[in-house]
Amino acid sequence: MRKFSSYGPPNTNLHYYAPRKELIARTIMQLKGDEHEEGGHYITVWAPRQTGKTWIMQEVLSTLEQETQFDVVLLSLQFLSEVTDLNSVAQLFAQELMEKLNLEKLSINRLEDFHRLFKRETLTKPLILMLDEFDALDQAAISRLVSVFRHIYNTRQNQKDKLTGENKNKNRGAGVFLGF
Ligand SMILES: Nc1ncnc2c1ncn2[C@@H]1O[C@H](COP(=O)(O)OP(=O)(O)OP(=O)(O)O)[C@@H](O)[C@H]1O
Ligand SMILES: [Mg+2]
Repeated sequence: MRKFSSYGPPNTNLHYYAPRKELIARTIMQLKGDEHEEGGHYITVWAPRQTGKTWIMQEVLSTLEQETQFDVVLLSLQFLSEVTDLNSVAQLFAQELMEKLNLEKLSINRLEDFHRLFKRETLTKPLILMLDEFDALDQAAISRLVSVFRHIYNTRQNQKDKLTGENKNKNRGAGVFLGF
Protein backbone atom coordinates (compact mmCIF):
# COMPACT_ATOMS: atom_id res chain seq x y z
CA MET A 1 0.00 0.00 0.00
CA ARG A 2 1.46 3.35 -1.04
CA LYS A 3 1.89 6.14 1.48
CA PHE A 4 1.94 9.92 1.28
CA SER A 5 5.36 11.43 1.81
CA SER A 6 6.58 14.98 2.04
CA TYR A 7 10.16 14.26 3.10
CA GLY A 8 12.49 14.60 0.13
CA PRO A 9 11.84 13.43 -3.44
CA PRO A 10 9.15 10.69 -3.47
CA ASN A 11 10.10 7.05 -4.02
CA THR A 12 7.93 5.84 -6.91
CA ASN A 13 7.71 2.32 -5.42
CA LEU A 14 6.54 3.45 -1.99
CA HIS A 15 4.79 6.81 -2.30
CA TYR A 16 1.96 8.51 -4.14
CA TYR A 17 3.41 10.81 -6.75
CA ALA A 18 2.59 12.82 -9.87
CA PRO A 19 4.26 10.91 -12.77
CA ARG A 20 5.07 14.07 -14.82
CA LYS A 21 5.89 11.76 -17.72
CA GLU A 22 5.71 14.38 -20.47
CA LEU A 23 8.01 16.75 -18.63
CA ILE A 24 10.54 13.97 -18.00
CA ALA A 25 10.39 12.83 -21.64
CA ARG A 26 10.84 16.41 -22.89
CA THR A 27 13.80 16.96 -20.57
CA ILE A 28 15.47 13.75 -21.77
CA MET A 29 14.86 14.69 -25.39
CA GLN A 30 16.40 18.11 -24.88
CA LEU A 31 19.46 16.69 -23.14
CA LYS A 32 20.08 14.01 -25.75
CA GLY A 33 18.94 15.92 -28.80
CA ASP A 34 16.57 14.11 -31.17
CA GLU A 35 17.56 11.87 -34.07
CA HIS A 36 17.99 14.76 -36.47
CA GLU A 37 20.24 16.80 -34.24
CA GLU A 38 23.84 16.03 -33.47
CA GLY A 39 24.14 16.76 -29.80
CA GLY A 40 22.05 17.64 -26.81
CA HIS A 41 21.29 21.01 -25.36
CA TYR A 42 22.28 23.23 -22.57
CA ILE A 43 19.14 23.74 -20.51
CA THR A 44 18.38 25.64 -17.36
CA VAL A 45 15.47 24.98 -15.05
CA TRP A 46 14.17 27.75 -12.86
CA ALA A 47 11.27 27.03 -10.56
CA PRO A 48 10.26 28.09 -7.04
CA ARG A 49 11.43 26.10 -4.06
CA GLN A 50 9.89 22.71 -3.42
CA THR A 51 8.27 22.24 -6.82
CA GLY A 52 9.94 18.92 -7.73
CA LYS A 53 13.12 19.95 -9.60
CA THR A 54 15.36 17.46 -7.80
CA TRP A 55 12.84 14.67 -8.25
CA ILE A 56 12.70 15.35 -12.01
CA MET A 57 16.50 15.23 -12.20
CA GLN A 58 16.60 11.91 -10.36
CA GLU A 59 13.99 10.41 -12.69
CA VAL A 60 15.88 11.68 -15.74
CA LEU A 61 19.10 10.25 -14.30
CA SER A 62 17.66 6.79 -13.70
CA THR A 63 16.25 6.65 -17.26
CA LEU A 64 19.43 7.90 -18.91
CA GLU A 65 21.68 5.60 -16.86
CA GLN A 66 20.15 2.67 -18.74
CA GLU A 67 21.49 4.07 -22.01
CA THR A 68 25.09 3.00 -22.04
CA GLN A 69 26.22 5.37 -24.80
CA PHE A 70 26.32 8.27 -22.31
CA ASP A 71 28.04 9.10 -19.09
CA VAL A 72 25.40 10.71 -16.89
CA VAL A 73 26.27 12.61 -13.73
CA LEU A 74 23.95 14.32 -11.28
CA LEU A 75 25.85 16.57 -8.93
CA SER A 76 24.45 18.83 -6.23
CA LEU A 77 26.57 21.95 -5.86
CA GLN A 78 25.41 22.60 -2.31
CA PHE A 79 28.87 21.54 -1.07
CA LEU A 80 30.33 24.65 -2.72
CA SER A 81 27.96 27.11 -1.05
CA GLU A 82 30.62 28.49 1.31
CA VAL A 83 33.39 28.71 -1.28
CA THR A 84 33.85 32.19 -2.70
CA ASP A 85 37.25 31.91 -4.39
CA LEU A 86 36.53 31.13 -8.06
CA ASN A 87 39.62 29.01 -8.57
CA SER A 88 38.74 26.89 -5.53
CA VAL A 89 35.19 26.45 -6.88
CA ALA A 90 36.63 25.20 -10.19
CA GLN A 91 39.12 22.93 -8.44
CA LEU A 92 36.61 21.32 -6.05
CA PHE A 93 33.94 21.00 -8.72
CA ALA A 94 36.45 19.35 -11.10
CA GLN A 95 37.65 16.95 -8.38
CA GLU A 96 34.10 15.84 -7.62
CA LEU A 97 33.31 15.32 -11.30
CA MET A 98 36.53 13.42 -12.00
CA GLU A 99 35.73 11.12 -9.10
CA LYS A 100 32.19 10.45 -10.39
CA LEU A 101 33.51 9.77 -13.89
CA ASN A 102 36.48 7.68 -12.69
CA LEU A 103 38.83 9.89 -14.68
CA GLU A 104 42.57 10.07 -14.32
CA LYS A 105 43.31 13.09 -12.17
CA LEU A 106 43.86 16.14 -14.33
CA SER A 107 45.34 19.09 -12.57
CA ILE A 108 42.59 21.68 -12.66
CA ASN A 109 43.37 24.35 -10.15
CA ARG A 110 42.08 27.47 -11.86
CA LEU A 111 38.82 28.47 -13.50
CA GLU A 112 40.75 28.99 -16.75
CA ASP A 113 41.58 25.24 -16.78
CA PHE A 114 38.07 24.04 -16.03
CA HIS A 115 37.01 23.57 -19.68
CA ARG A 116 39.84 21.01 -20.17
CA LEU A 117 37.79 18.51 -18.22
CA PHE A 118 35.18 18.47 -20.98
CA LYS A 119 37.50 17.93 -23.92
CA ARG A 120 36.75 14.99 -26.17
CA GLU A 121 40.21 13.52 -25.45
CA THR A 122 39.40 13.54 -21.70
CA LEU A 123 35.88 12.14 -21.67
CA THR A 124 35.31 8.55 -22.73
CA LYS A 125 31.66 9.04 -23.74
CA PRO A 126 29.32 11.96 -24.45
CA LEU A 127 28.50 13.45 -21.08
CA ILE A 128 25.11 14.48 -19.76
CA LEU A 129 25.72 16.64 -16.75
CA MET A 130 22.97 17.62 -14.32
CA LEU A 131 23.84 20.20 -11.72
CA ASP A 132 21.37 20.61 -8.88
CA GLU A 133 21.38 23.50 -6.39
CA PHE A 134 23.31 25.63 -8.84
CA ASP A 135 22.07 28.72 -6.99
CA ALA A 136 23.96 27.60 -3.88
CA LEU A 137 27.06 28.96 -5.59
CA ASP A 138 28.30 32.47 -5.07
CA GLN A 139 26.89 34.95 -7.65
CA ALA A 140 30.28 35.46 -9.29
CA ALA A 141 30.80 31.69 -9.56
CA ILE A 142 27.35 31.24 -11.15
CA SER A 143 28.09 33.85 -13.75
CA ARG A 144 31.59 32.54 -14.59
CA LEU A 145 30.61 28.87 -14.68
CA VAL A 146 27.60 29.57 -16.88
CA SER A 147 29.86 31.36 -19.35
CA VAL A 148 32.32 28.44 -19.30
CA PHE A 149 29.50 26.00 -20.13
CA ARG A 150 28.15 28.32 -22.81
CA HIS A 151 31.62 28.52 -24.31
CA ILE A 152 32.01 24.72 -24.28
CA TYR A 153 28.59 24.31 -25.88
CA ASN A 154 29.29 26.88 -28.60
CA THR A 155 32.71 25.39 -29.32
CA ARG A 156 31.15 21.93 -29.71
CA GLN A 157 28.46 23.32 -32.00
CA ASN A 158 31.13 24.86 -34.23
CA GLN A 159 33.20 21.66 -34.27
CA LYS A 160 30.10 19.66 -35.13
CA ASP A 161 29.46 21.73 -38.26
CA LYS A 162 32.91 20.72 -39.48
CA LEU A 163 32.63 16.99 -38.73
CA THR A 164 31.29 14.25 -40.94
CA GLY A 165 30.17 10.60 -40.63
CA GLU A 166 31.50 8.59 -37.72
CA ASN A 167 33.20 11.55 -36.11
CA LYS A 168 29.93 13.43 -36.13
CA ASN A 169 28.29 10.60 -34.19
CA LYS A 170 31.05 10.70 -31.58
CA ASN A 171 30.13 14.30 -30.94
CA ARG A 172 26.50 13.52 -30.12
CA GLY A 173 24.64 13.86 -26.91
CA ALA A 174 26.48 16.24 -24.64
CA GLY A 175 23.87 17.98 -22.51
CA VAL A 176 23.98 20.17 -19.44
CA PHE A 177 21.01 20.61 -17.11
CA LEU A 178 21.31 23.36 -14.53
CA GLY A 179 18.79 23.24 -11.69
CA PHE A 180 18.27 26.27 -9.47
N1 LIG B 1 6.37 13.95 -8.75
C1 LIG B 1 6.01 14.29 -7.51
N2 LIG B 1 4.82 13.86 -7.01
C2 LIG B 1 4.45 14.20 -5.75
N3 LIG B 1 5.16 14.94 -4.91
C3 LIG B 1 6.33 15.40 -5.35
C4 LIG B 1 6.83 15.11 -6.67
N4 LIG B 1 8.04 15.69 -6.82
C5 LIG B 1 8.28 16.32 -5.68
N5 LIG B 1 7.28 16.15 -4.78
C6 LIG B 1 7.16 16.69 -3.43
O1 LIG B 1 7.74 17.98 -3.43
C7 LIG B 1 8.79 18.05 -2.48
C8 LIG B 1 9.94 18.80 -3.10
O2 LIG B 1 10.50 18.04 -4.17
P1 LIG B 1 11.96 18.33 -4.65
O3 LIG B 1 12.92 18.21 -3.52
O4 LIG B 1 12.19 17.50 -5.85
O5 LIG B 1 11.75 19.88 -5.07
P2 LIG B 1 12.82 20.98 -5.41
O6 LIG B 1 12.13 21.91 -6.36
O7 LIG B 1 14.08 20.35 -5.84
O8 LIG B 1 13.00 21.66 -3.98
P3 LIG B 1 14.15 22.71 -3.55
O9 LIG B 1 13.80 23.99 -4.25
O10 LIG B 1 14.02 22.80 -2.07
O11 LIG B 1 15.47 22.14 -4.00
C9 LIG B 1 9.16 16.60 -2.13
O12 LIG B 1 9.54 16.49 -0.78
C10 LIG B 1 7.88 15.86 -2.37
O13 LIG B 1 7.10 15.89 -1.19
MG1 LIG C 1 16.04 20.47 -5.04
